[in-house]
This record gives sequence, structure tokens and C-alpha cells, in this order.
Amino acid sequence: PAGTARNADGAIAIGGIGTDELADRYQTPLFVYDEADFRARCAAMREAFGRYGKVHYASKAFLSVEIAKWVEQEGLSLDVCSGGELAVALHAGFPAQRIALHGNNKGEDELEAAVTAGIGHVVLDSLTEIERLDAIAARHGVVADVLIRVTPGVNAHTHEFISTAHEDQKFGFSISGGKAMAAVRAVFATDHLRLVGLHSHIGSQIFDLDGFEVAARRVIGLLGEVVAEFGARAEQLSIIDLGGGLGISYLPTDDPLPVTTLADSLAGIVERETAALGLPMPTLAVEPGRAIAGPPGVTLYRVGTIKDVDLDGGGQRRYVSVDGGMSDNIRSALYDAEYDVRLASRTSDAPPVVCRVVGKHCETGDIVVRDCWLPGDLAPGDVLIVGATGAYCYSMSSRYNMVTRPAVIAVRDGQSRVILRRETVADLLSLEVSQ
Ligand code: LLP
Repeated sequence: PAGTARNADGAIAIGGIGTDELADRYQTPLFVYDEADFRARCAAMREAFGRYGKVHYASKAFLSVEIAKWVEQEGLSLDVCSGGELAVALHAGFPAQRIALHGNNKGEDELEAAVTAGIGHVVLDSLTEIERLDAIAARHGVVADVLIRVTPGVNAHTHEFISTAHEDQKFGFSISGGKAMAAVRAVFATDHLRLVGLHSHIGSQIFDLDGFEVAARRVIGLLGEVVAEFGARAEQLSIIDLGGGLGISYLPTDDPLPVTTLADSLAGIVERETAALGLPMPTLAVEPGRAIAGPPGVTLYRVGTIKDVDLDGGGQRRYVSVDGGMSDNIRSALYDAEYDVRLASRTSDAPPVVCRVVGKHCETGDIVVRDCWLPGDLAPGDVLIVGATGAYCYSMSSRYNMVTRPAVIAVRDGQSRVILRRETVADLLSLEVSQ
């Protein structure tokens, strides 16, 4: 996952450029996106799902103006979940019609911005929001297209999923408790909302289809109920959106499904379930974030200090401190996420040593990679590469300890360019009111 192509001096190369050169030129920590890979993943999604429906890139995984342009040029739609993401997408010139707005507590201002921009649809998440959006659409004299987010009673994570009748979580309307049907009735009762489909999202980093299958069956079962109650009026519900969650390879042992297999299987499930109820095949929508942005992104860090710590039971652990950490990658601390890390700036024949790669933050849990093998001659100044950090790392970054955010660069065909500049102390001070 961290990339194995090397250039003549032995450094790992991305997009044809050595990581040693990138680290020298742009400083570290540094997020590097392989533009060709990002675009290829968009294109593969579009091709695989295009004949069944459409693909919304989940911009929470990582968004910038440049990224929005790539997604737009590769023909995908965009899912945003805040006014901030919407503003960046619109600033990038992303066509409003191809944007969908998510969230369990969208503010008046966010709904207003969505209606004003004329986005494709809003995914509704509460009865309050149904009233709120109806009122805003009325004020603007428009009818807003909406999906209803339902909870099908499926919690999926990686290789397992849990199927229950009730879910104790904040998103959506429960199907089994009748709340989803009540929401459908509430939308049909409005004058300024048009229900165009149903949405569910069952989890993230999913490797098998069983959870999607149960979710699809339950969502389509609900569609059947809507058709039974509303007859011809239900024909406007043409979209079944199964959300995101497609898993990626963080470690060499992870083995995600090929995207064509995934698309054909999901479409097959939806087709079978709708046919069983005598309904036409709906438009199948999906919202992958990680599967597009994750693998094309890597982080480069420079090693600062190396310390061998004696362990209570005997033996030692080698702590390798890098110049970033939980402010640019909170996932290890938050989810015990695992990453592949390698020495990037040179080759080494030194026997590998078990290491723990840690950040520079004032917190014991500031771990980038808990256990890994790195060459025994690793030294301060060496550059490490952490693979598959393109999703939910920069987008979840913070300024903890007033550590400024890294730069983000794009590489392609031997060329590199900054897409988000590195933060500076001036950025920190720019929020201060006392001068
Ligand atoms: N659609 C909806 C409605 C979502 O809530 C999400 C993710 C996605 C799509 C995209 O899911 P993806 O394909 O990227 O798995 N911060 C966590 C992931 C949280 C995802 C939340 N929703 C992480 O770093 O793993």
C-alpha cells in the first residue's frame, strides 16, 4: 500500500517523483496525492456503476477545490455534509445539480444555501428537517428534490455486520419501527418537497456484500410499502442510494472486492429485490469516499528522534518520532486504525527492527503506526511514507498543540504542485482578536 516504485537513487517514487525530492522541496509532514490514481479510481467507479445509476464522491473523505475539479472532470457527482463542503464545491465550479446534501442536523443556513444554489437533492434525516426544508423551498418558490435516509437495521464494519431490528444511533429513520414510513407520509404531505428516493448507509471499510444485501432488501421492502400506499405517486421514487463504505487495502493483507464485482453484485441484489415486488429497476446510487481518496494519498514524515525504551517484561521497544502525528492522522488513536509504513528516502539492507512510529504531540496515544518493522539503521532525517492516508486524515486534521497543518500536493507525470499550502504561524494568529 505505501508504494514500491523506486527511482534511481533508491527512494520510493510517486507519480514519477522521488519522495526524498518531495520532502526536500515541500518539507514534511506532507500529504501527496497521485492524481492519475485518484482520477482512475473515479473513472473505474463511473464505469462500473454508470450503467446502473450514479456515483457520488463522499467529500468528507477529502475535499479541496482541486479535488472537486478532478471529481467533476471524471464525471462523478458529489455528496457534501456541511455548508463548508458545499461552499468549497461551489467555489470549484462543481455543477450544483450534481451535488447532494447530507447530515443529521443541517442548519437553516445550510439548507438555505443548498436551495439557493439549486443542488440536486437533499437527504432528509428528521421530521424537523422535513418541515424546515419545506418552508425554505416555499420561501424560494421552488420544489426541492429529497431522499429520505432510512436505517435498515444493519451495522457493518469490515468483515462483519450486525443485523438488528432497532438501531441506537442518531442517523435516519428506522424502517422497522415505522418511522421511515411516517417520514415518507410527511414528505408527501408537503407542497415544496418531492420525494425522489430512499437512502441508507450501513458503515465504513466494508469488505463483503452481505450487509449491503440485507440493507437493500429492507430498503426495497420499504419502497414496496410506499408503492402499496401511494400507488402511482410513488413512481417518482426512482433512486435507491446504498451509501458508501467500500473497503480499501490499508495493509498488504487487506483484500477489497474489485469495483466491477461490487457494482454488478449490488445492482444484481437491487434488481432481484425490486423484481420480486414487481417494481421497475431503480437508479442505483452509491457514495464512496475512502475507496476513491484513500489509496491515492500518502503521508511523508521525517524522522526526528529514535529512542529504545526498556519494557517491563524485558526487551525493548524502538520509538521512532516523526514530525507530525495525531493532528494530521487521528485515525490510529481514534479507531486503532492500522497503516503500512516504510522507509521512503533510501534503501537499506540493515536487519529490520520492531518499531512504534509516534507523533510529536504531547499525548501518549499519539501513535501513527503501533507496530511495524523498519530497518535497524533508521536515522534522524530519514523520510517515512505511510500509505493510504488519502481519506479521513487531512479532512479530520486539527491544530492540536498549535501544530500547523501540512501542505497537500498533487503529483502527476513527474510534475508536482501544491493544492493546499502548508499552514503557518500567521494562520494560527489570524484568528486572534487581541493583537
Ligand atoms: N455516505 C454517507 C452518508 C456517509 O455517512 C459516509 C461516511 C459515506 C457516504 C462515505 O463512506 P466511505 O465510502 O468513505 O466509507 N471517519 C471515519 C469514517 C466515517 C465515515 C462517515 N460516513 C474513518 O476515518 O474511518
